[in-house]
Amino acid sequence: MKYRIAVLPGDGIGREVIPEAQKVISSLSLDIEQIEVKCGSQYYSETGTPWEKGGFEICKETDAILFGAAGWPGVKYANGETPASDVIFSMRFGLDLYANVRPTKLYPNVKHKISGKFEQVWKPENVDFVIVRENTEGLYSRARGMLERGGEKELAIDTRVITRKGCERVIEFAFKLAEKRRRKITCVDKSNVTQGCKLFRQIFFEISKKHEVHGVSTECAYIDAFALSIMREPEKYDVAVTTNMFGDIVTDLASVLQGGLGLAPSANIGDKHAMFEPVHGSSPDIAGKGIANPIAAILSACMMLDYLSEKHSDSKLKRASKAIENAVVETLSEGICTFDIGGNSKTKEVGDSIAKKCEKLFENLSHEQL
Ligand code: NAI
Ligand code: MG
Repeated sequence: MKYRIAVLPGDGIGREVIPEAQKVISSLSLDIEQIEVKCGSQYYSETGTPWEKGGFEICKETDAILFGAAGWPGVKYANGETPASDVIFSMRFGLDLYANVRPTKLYPNVKHKISGKFEQVWKPENVDFVIVRENTEGLYSRARGMLERGGEKELAIDTRVITRKGCERVIEFAFKLAEKRRRKITCVDKSNVTQGCKLFRQIFFEISKKHEVHGVSTECAYIDAFALSIMREPEKYDVAVTTNMFGDIVTDLASVLQGGLGLAPSANIGDKHAMFEPVHGSSPDIAGKGIANPIAAILSACMMLDYLSEKHSDSKLKRASKAIENAVVETLSEGICTFDIGGNSKTKEVGDSIAKKCEKLFENLSHEQL
């Protein structure tokens, strides 16, 4: 089957890491057409519009989207909103990508920087879980506003929207994911305080009854205790499901377990569309230097191939995704890595190494199949 993907480098290091992911995809002999779409805050500064003409329509028509990051210091509309939010939320909300899937997996030979020096703190066999974050409502819903702008009575309101449908579909998604993994799921919320979380947990229990027959074990945790627990005993977790903002924050923290944001990929999945992006943003502090870690973007491309392989029962894409992950592991094992995990390789050198190894590994995996 032939696939068409929309490729959106976006802003800052997105423009450096996405070309590496593209290079890796191109190194495999796959029938994938990559259609580049320009968008983001820098694009807005250059042209006065956040999306190139027809760009969002391309995202809607293609089989999947690969996105870098959006956001750039000082780039705002007159009303204070940003073109970057327009880009990100038009995909997440506009394409109804309700499940934000963020794996935390530690690969061998990855060092962590926690207090100045690089160390191997956690063991790879102890860090392999996925946080599924609700992606279309919660505190990021557009029910918000300002009253009495300026002056002493100035007031800002953010409404946290939690709906039955929103909970059901993301929790159902997380259970199905747990069934494919180690069959353990944790509901993460603050149901001791907020109404929205009470509903989230209630629906979690309702859905868990349906999945009892599949032997998925369940537990619940409050977000504050969960944040501590993933650092101390990450081996306890397999799949966790949570609301929008808790998931946003706790996945940045979780990325420390896997070596940092440079290694954290993600998927945004809906019933019709899917978008894949590194968890990190545009990183203005390192943009333009050619030193950003491309692995989060490359692993996001890997998740994209996995998604397409399952959706279209395409075993060739499954092998391609396996080959990419193995090429990442080999590259890291050889110590080819960027500054954020203690190396001195450039973005392009890491991308080149992964692309080269990937091509060979894919050939070998394909021969094994014959
Ligand atoms: P960030 O994720 O861009 O950077 C946080 C820190 O991690 C920085 O010190 C950066 O250098 C480092 N880092 C991130 N990715 C890295 C990589 N691949 N290799 C090496 N180091 C890496 O978050 P920040 O600085 O808070 O946001 C910058 C801009 O990006 C803002 O405009 C923000 O709104 C936007 N943003 C966009 C996201 C998206 O498009 N989904 C997600 C997060 C932030
Ligand atoms: Mg975030």
